[in-house]
Amino acid sequence: MASQKVGFLDSGVGGLSVLLEVRSLLPHVDMHYIGDSAWCPYGTKSTEVICERVGKLAEYLISQDVSLIVVACNSATIQAVDWLRSNYPVPFVGTEPAVKPASARTQTGVIGVLATEASIGGKKFLDLIHSAAENVEVVTQACPGFVKLVENGVLSGPQVEEAVRTYTQKIIDKGADFIVLGCTHYPFLRETIENIVPPGITVIDSGASIARRVDSLLSDKTGSGQLLIETTGDLDRLKTLVPRLLGDIGKSAVLSKYSD
Ligand code: DGL
Repeated sequence: MASQKVGFLDSGVGGLSVLLEVRSLLPHVDMHYIGDSAWCPYGTKSTEVICERVGKLAEYLISQDVSLIVVACNSATIQAVDWLRSNYPVPFVGTEPAVKPASARTQTGVIGVLATEASIGGKKFLDLIHSAAENVEVVTQACPGFVKLVENGVLSGPQVEEAVRTYTQKIIDKGADFIVLGCTHYPFLRETIENIVPPGITVIDSGASIARRVDSLLSDKTGSGQLLIETTGDLDRLKTLVPRLLGDIGKSAVLSKYSD
């Protein structure tokens, strides 16, 4: 029997932050990532458009024999994972903002969530807050500029610093001691975020818990560690970004353009 392969999808390169976590836990598993950079961002799109796009990407990954698909995108998970699960015959691992661990650990009773508009406005996100953060004040902030910065390879410097100051001010003022990175693009800006917010604030994301979930679902983890990364957008841009986002892990990756 062929070894199991894990598929990943995202609106662009953000889901590579999730792939990094899965890769560090499961270095031998084959992985096939597709980023929909031609349609990025998802965070400002309707549920219908997001479902249509992720449906196309999921069909493609299934045709390439993946055993499960990581929806490495909070916006797509919140808006479309239930639809994906009822329409396609493979397991889907979703990505939700880490509201649960932040709520369990907060000392001030206030947590901040940085995410896209599509995530913050989604029913699944509101349900998560109701169930996981009942006695906690959750301060949400949409950060439309972050995704563009990461897609353009701007991971540090004055533009990032200014955006971080703008998006975190309200959360800091409200007294949060946790900031949840509720979009998979944002961990690539983590260094600047951590440098700018006061030292008492812990910045967390969901990458490691997704990796543990993938691990628990795979029965065969003995692949040859192949890594294929595809984009619906610009291949040259992907070639520039992958070494910067994945470091050594990116060196063995095969990069290609996918057109649907
Ligand atoms: N990386 C995505 C997320 O986790 C989507 C960002 C976007 O396309 O707006 O929400």
